[in-house]
Amino acid sequence: MEKIAVIGSGYVGLVTGACFAEIGHQVICVDNNKDKVAALKQGNVPIYEPGLSQLVLKNVKRKRLIFSDSIKEGVENSKAIFIAVGTPPKAKGEADLSAIEDVAEEIAKYMNSYRLIIQKSTVPIATGDWVESTVRMFKKKHAKFDIASNPEFLREGSAIDDFMHPDRIIIGVEAKKARELLSRIYKPIKARIVFTDVKSAELIKHASNSFLAMKISFINSLSRICDASGADIDKVAQGLGMDKRIGKDFLKASLGYGGFCFPKDLAAFINICERLGYNPELLKATAKVNEQQKEFFFRKIKKALWNISGKRIAVLGLSFKPNTDDIRLSPAIDIIRMLKKAGAKIATFDPRAMEKAKRELSGVDYCDNAYDAITGADCLVLATDWPQFSRLDLKRVKRLLKRPIIVDGRNMFDPVNMKRLGFQYSSIGRNA
Ligand code: UGA
Repeated sequence: MEKIAVIGSGYVGLVTGACFAEIGHQVICVDNNKDKVAALKQGNVPIYEPGLSQLVLKNVKRKRLIFSDSIKEGVENSKAIFIAVGTPPKAKGEADLSAIEDVAEEIAKYMNSYRLIIQKSTVPIATGDWVESTVRMFKKKHAKFDIASNPEFLREGSAIDDFMHPDRIIIGVEAKKARELLSRIYKPIKARIVFTDVKSAELIKHASNSFLAMKISFINSLSRICDASGADIDKVAQGLGMDKRIGKDFLKASLGYGGFCFPKDLAAFINICERLGYNPELLKATAKVNEQQKEFFFRKIKKALWNISGKRIAVLGLSFKPNTDDIRLSPAIDIIRMLKKAGAKIATFDPRAMEKAKRELSGVDYCDNAYDAITGADCLVLATDWPQFSRLDLKRVKRLLKRPIIVDGRNMFDPVNMKRLGFQYSSIGRNA
C-alpha cells in the first residue's frame, strides 16, 4: 500500500484516485473547488462515467479514498503526488499551464520530506523541467523530491476499464527511487510498463492522441472519396484495418471527432511544434480535415432537405461520444449551431447530456425521449452513436417523421435496409 495524493478531481484525477484506491492504495483526492469536494465527500460524483460513482462510494466507505480542498493535507498525507489539474487551451491553442505552476508551488511549500511529484495532465514537452525548477525554488532546503511524467490514456465512457487494463503504462522518470515507487504503485495492474525519460513520456501522450485523431481524419478523408466515387467506407475500413500494421480501431468514419482531448491536444501539439521551430503539416491537415468533415455533414443535411430554413430537425445525440454526458467540443453541438444559424428549428434528445447542453445551448426543444424529438420532424439527424439509437423502432420512426429523411453522421444503420423500409437515408461514405 502506498500513500498517494491526486491533485485535481476532474475526469483524469477522479478516475485515477478511485482506481488507485481500488487496487489497494491510500488515496487523498484534492480539488480547490470546495463545492465539488463537499459533494464528493457525500458520494456525489459530478460527471457521468459508467461505474465511477460506485467505485468512489465503495472506496470512501473502505476509508481508502478521502477528499480534501487542501493541498497541504494532500502533501502531508502522501509520498507520491499526482498532478491532474486542467490545462485548458488559450488563444492559438497553447495549453494554459498556470494551474500546474500554482500546484507545483503549493506542493513545494508543504513538503517536509521526500516526495515524488508525477505529472498526469496532458502537457507540452519540458513541463517536467518547469515543475522541477518551480518546486526547487519554493521548497524547504532539506526536502528532497523527484519528478516523473505518467500520462493517462483513458477514454471517457470506458475510463475505469481503460485504467485497470491499459495497453501499456508509460513512466518518464530519471531517479531509481522514483522508478521503484511507481513500479510498486502500478504492480497490481497487469500491463507492460515502458520507462522513458520525462520528455519522451510527455511526447508519447501528444503523439498518441494526434495519431488517433489522424486515423479518424484519414478515414474521414477516404469517406469523401467513397461518397464521390460510389465505394463503401465501412468495407474500405474493414479491408484496411485487417492489416495488423494499420489496425482496425479508430477507423470509423463519422461527422468528425470531438471532445476535450483530441481537438484541444492537437491544437496544443501544433503550438508546441511551432515553438520548437517545426511546422507540423500533418497535424494541421488532421485538424483541418476534421473541421471540413463537420461542414460536409452539414451540406449533406442541406442536400437531403433542400431548404433548411423553417424546417424542424430532430437531432439525436448531444455528447461527443456515447456513454458520457460530456458535450465539450461535441460535433453534435456544432451541427446544431450550424442548423440553427441556417434557420432550422431543433428538437433533440440525448440519454445523458441534456442537462449540460441546456446550459450551453438555448432555443432548442429538449425532448424526453428520441420518439418525442422525431415526432413531426422534417428530418432525423443522428449525431452521436449511443447504442440505444441503433435499436430504435424504425417503422415507428417512419410513422412519426413528417418526411422519411434520415441523415446519419455515425453510420448506424444498413443503407440497403433503410432504403427497403422507405427512408431517404444518407450516411458517411456509403451509397446504397
Ligand atoms: C481520447 C483518447 O482515446 C484517450 O486515449 C485519451 O486518454 C483521451 O483522449 C485524453 O487525452 O484524455 P476520448 O476523448 O475520451 O479519449 O474519446 P475517444 O474514444 O478517443 O473519441 C474521441 C472522438 O473521436 C469522439 O468524438 C469519437 O466519436 C470520435 N471517433 C472515435 C470517431 O469519429 N471515429 C473513431 O473511429 C473513433
